[in-house]
Amino acid sequence: MADKPIVEQTLAALGDTTPEQVAARFADVRARFDQQAAEHSSNAENWRVFLLAWTGRKSGELTKITDNWLKPASPELKRAVGQELNQLKAHIEAVVAEKQAAIDAATEQASLAREQIDLSLPGIEHAIGSRHLIRQTYDELLRVFGAIGFSVVEGPEIETPYYNFEALNIPEHHPARDNMDTFYIEGARNGDLLRTHTSPMQIRTMEKEKPPVRIVVPGKVYRRDNPDATHGYMFHQIEGLAVDTDITFCDFKGTVDYFARAFLGPKTKTRLRPSYFPFTEPSAEVDATCHVCGGKGCRVCKQTGWIELFGAGMVNPAVYGFVNYDAERLSGFAFGMGVDRLAMMKSGVTEVPLLFQNDVRFLRQF
Ligand code: PHE
Repeated sequence: MADKPIVEQTLAALGDTTPEQVAARFADVRARFDQQAAEHSSNAENWRVFLLAWTGRKSGELTKITDNWLKPASPELKRAVGQELNQLKAHIEAVVAEKQAAIDAATEQASLAREQIDLSLPGIEHAIGSRHLIRQTYDELLRVFGAIGFSVVEGPEIETPYYNFEALNIPEHHPARDNMDTFYIEGARNGDLLRTHTSPMQIRTMEKEKPPVRIVVPGKVYRRDNPDATHGYMFHQIEGLAVDTDITFCDFKGTVDYFARAFLGPKTKTRLRPSYFPFTEPSAEVDATCHVCGGKGCRVCKQTGWIELFGAGMVNPAVYGFVNYDAERLSGFAFGMGVDRLAMMKSGVTEVPLLFQNDVRFLRQF
């Protein structure tokens, strides 16, 4: 019988007959509890096992004491056993509450340490985009012309032959159509095509609006060119048109000069070379002194000192006939610039394809 744990024996079997002996018995139990509590409170799992061993309803120490000591106790001892047991329970509850709080705090601390955010780790970098070189050039051009009263209009990239050619005084079979060969929309009833220049917006604007007109037209245009370093099937233009009752060739030249100085620098000079467009008369190619050498001659201007800027001229009176403008009373000038050319010229880019390959290593340089 000596091997059997004491809580599994009755007090009578253990030989306790006085309240003092009972008190001593409980003191032993309490000491054992205190010792085990100290030993098992260092980690949550041990603590759980320990708690079960003492307070488990089915076979915990307290249950056994109740079953084996209290219930079978003799009437003389019952009161003393009951009191001692209540005190033991209160003691166990108090210790458990205290240790539990400590264990919870430690667990919390540990998980905080584990989940701590490392503020020194590099964050996720989101690449910031930039304006494309062409967009930047447009912005600059629109700013320059906006400053002298030109407003911006845009038009369709799919045009009818009428707006792209006829109304611009380029009849069918006119040789001027040759270098403007383009893409035709398959099955389109009116022979719709991708516009070869932004000039159709001259017509569309004058059809809709009474003079005076002062507009610039940014937009994409298309030509069936063989792609090379300076040609693609698509490029960007900005068209200009000014029509009023008193516009002279001087206004034209003055506007050209203003633009060249604003866009290329205050020392820039311009010259006009005779040219031909069916919708302007006279027509001119506008050159500017080279922005790199200032006119002395260098590699960029091929030693000529001049850079070709754009085509332009005084509006051909024949065009007014297409839009019901009074050719006797009105005059004006128009120009059409290749924006890609201007952008490349200013930035030193020499290959058109680079502009549209969307290689960020190229794009982020601007
Ligand atoms: N549309 C012409 C071209 O694309 C340029 C131009 C515009 C010339 C306006 C004169 C006046 O070549």
